[in-house]
Order: sequence, then structure tokens, then C-alpha cells
Amino acid sequence: MPHQRTFVMVKPDGVRRRLVGDVISRFEAKGLSLERLRMRIPDEALAAHHYAEHRQREFYPSLLAFITSGPVVAMQWSGESAIAVARTMMGSTNPVQAAPGTIRGDFGLDVQENIVHGSDSPESAERELGLWFGEG
Ligand code: RTP
Ligand code: MG
Repeated sequence: MPHQRTFVMVKPDGVRRRLVGDVISRFEAKGLSLERLRMRIPDEALAAHHYAEHRQREFYPSLLAFITSGPVVAMQWSGESAIAVARTMMGSTNPVQAAPGTIRGDFGLDVQENIVHGSDSPESAERELGLWFGEG
């Protein structure tokens, strides 16, 4: 199994609800390593690049408005199979279906305001880390 790095972001709802510490604690307790962290309010261009894959979806305008609505906490985490591990710990996209014990399963009910983002592949992880942190 590969050592990987992944991009995880606490979305604006997670920051507003004071869940940043809980999200970080869960990943640290699991054994992943926090390597980079930056809090910022994403502008429209950054949000559009980040969610470019969804630009044709009907929820895209609403998703962009949500992601730019306040500060997010952007993070680089690394470890064994970090991409899949982070996604498993986040739970299903829709918190209504997310298993208890996952972040989305424990904290939400709204399909859009689902607290966290995590890269879904090595290619996405490298693209998103470059987008949010630059090279290095
Ligand atoms: P993410 O990219 O944020 O980690 O979430 P994901 O892979 O689990 O889900 P994805 O399909 O990539 O969707 C991206 C985000 O768009 C919002 N969404 N809204 N209204 C809707 O039906 C809907 N579907 C998705 C969510 O914030 C989702 O995480
Ligand atoms: Mg996604």
C-alpha cells in the first residue's frame, strides 16, 4: 500500500460550526501527518478551479456561492493510503447516508454543507495541492 499525500479542506460550514479542531484531531488520531495548513476565504476563481469537474452540474452555482461564503481550512495530510483513508473517514457525500463514526455521518444532514472535502485520486490530490498551496 502506498504512502500518499492528500488535500483535505474544512468547508465554510465546518469553520462556522467550530469543527476544525475535531476534524484535525480525527486525522491525527488515525495516524496521518499534517504537513501544510492555510486558512483563507477562497475567491471565485480558486473555487471554480477547485470544482471545475462539476461546472455542468445543476448544483454548481450554489456550490460556488457556498465555498466562497467564508474562510476554509486547507490542509495537506500524508500517510499510508492517505487518500482513501481520508475519504473513508469523511463518509458518503450525502450526510444522510454517511455512516455514523464518519465526519459527515456524525455532524451533518445537508448534501451541500457537508463539512469537509477530500481528494478522490492521486491525480486530484496533486492538482488540488498545487492549486491551494503552490508547488513545494
Ligand atoms: P468533495 O469533492 O467536496 O470532497 O465531495 P465528494 O467528492 O464527496 O462529492 P462530489 O460529487 O465531488 O461533490 C462536491 C460537493 O458538491 C456538493 N454537492 N451538492 N446539491 C447536490 O446535490 C450536491 N451534490 C454535491 C457537496 O458539497 C459535495 O461535497
Ligand atoms: Mg469530489
